Amino acid sequence: MAGGLFTPLLFRDALRVIRLFCRRLHCESQPDTKRFITENTEIVQGRSLTPEISLRLFTPKCRFWTERPELWPFPEPFWAIYWPGGQALARYLLNNPAVSKGKRVLDLGCGCGASAIAARLSGAEDVVANDIDPVAVIATQINCELNGLEPLSCVTENMICSEPDNWDLILLGDMFYDESLADCLHKWLHTCIKVHGTQVLIGDPGRAQFESHSIKKLLHKQARFELPDSVKEENYGLTSSTVWSYRPD
Ligand SMILES: C[S@@+](CC[C@H](N)C(=O)[O-])C[C@H]1O[C@@H](n2cnc3c(N)ncnc32)[C@H](O)[C@@H]1O
Repeated sequence: MAGGLFTPLLFRDALRVIRLFCRRLHCESQPDTKRFITENTEIVQGRSLTPEISLRLFTPKCRFWTERPELWPFPEPFWAIYWPGGQALARYLLNNPAVSKGKRVLDLGCGCGASAIAARLSGAEDVVANDIDPVAVIATQINCELNGLEPLSCVTENMICSEPDNWDLILLGDMFYDESLADCLHKWLHTCIKVHGTQVLIGDPGRAQFESHSIKKLLHKQARFELPDSVKEENYGLTSSTVWSYRPD
C-alpha cells in the first residue's frame, strides 16, 4: 500500500532532480555563449540602486548598441538590462537580510540575476534562478562569478505552468509587463501561497500593465526607492520603484 503511494512520488522527485541536473549542466557547458556575452557587454557597477553588485550589461560602449539588430544571434536580451523592478527588489533584500536569510528562494524571470545574487549575498540557503531564456541563466552565472559567488542553480523551464515547489520566497522583478503573463503569474502565485505558504515579493516601477492589473489590490507596499538619475534617463518617465508583498487574503 505504502509502496503504491510513495513510488510515484519518489519517481517524480527523481525525475525532477535529473531534470535540474541536466539543466545545470546545460547552463554551465556553453563556452561560446559565455564568450559572446563577455565580448558584447560591459561590467557595470555603481549606476543602479545596488552599487555593491557588479553586472555585465549593455552600454553605449557595446557593439550591439549601434549594430544592426538582425545580427544579434539570440532572443531579445532582456538579461542585458538591470530593470528598475529588479533593482528595487535587490536593494530591499540587501537592506533587509532577514527576509531571505536561510530561505529557499526562487528568482522567477531572473534576467541578469541581480535579485538572485542579492538573496544569496543576504544569506539565502538555496537560490534558484529561473528564466525561459537560456542565455539569461548563463548571464546570471557570469554575474554570480563576477560577485565572488558560487554558481547558482538555474532552470529554464516555464515554471508558471508547472506544479509549484515549496519555495519559502519567490522574487519577481519587473515581470508584470505583459497582460497575459501577469494573469498566469497571478494564478500560479496564488497557488504557491495557498499550497506552500510561500512569501511573494514583486518589484515594479509603476508600469501601466501592473498598475491596472487585478493583483494590485492584493499587494502590500514594503519599500519605495527613488531611482538614480542614470536609471531615470534610461527609463523615460519612471522615477521610483516599489517592492510589494502579495498576500491574497
Ligand atoms: C523585464 S525582464 C526582468 C529581469 C529581472 N527580473 C530584472 O528585474 O532585472 C523579464 C524577464 O522575464 C523572463 N521571462 C518572461 N516570461 C517568463 C516565464 N514565463 N518564466 C520565466 N521567465 C520569464 C524574460 O526572459 C526576461 O528575462
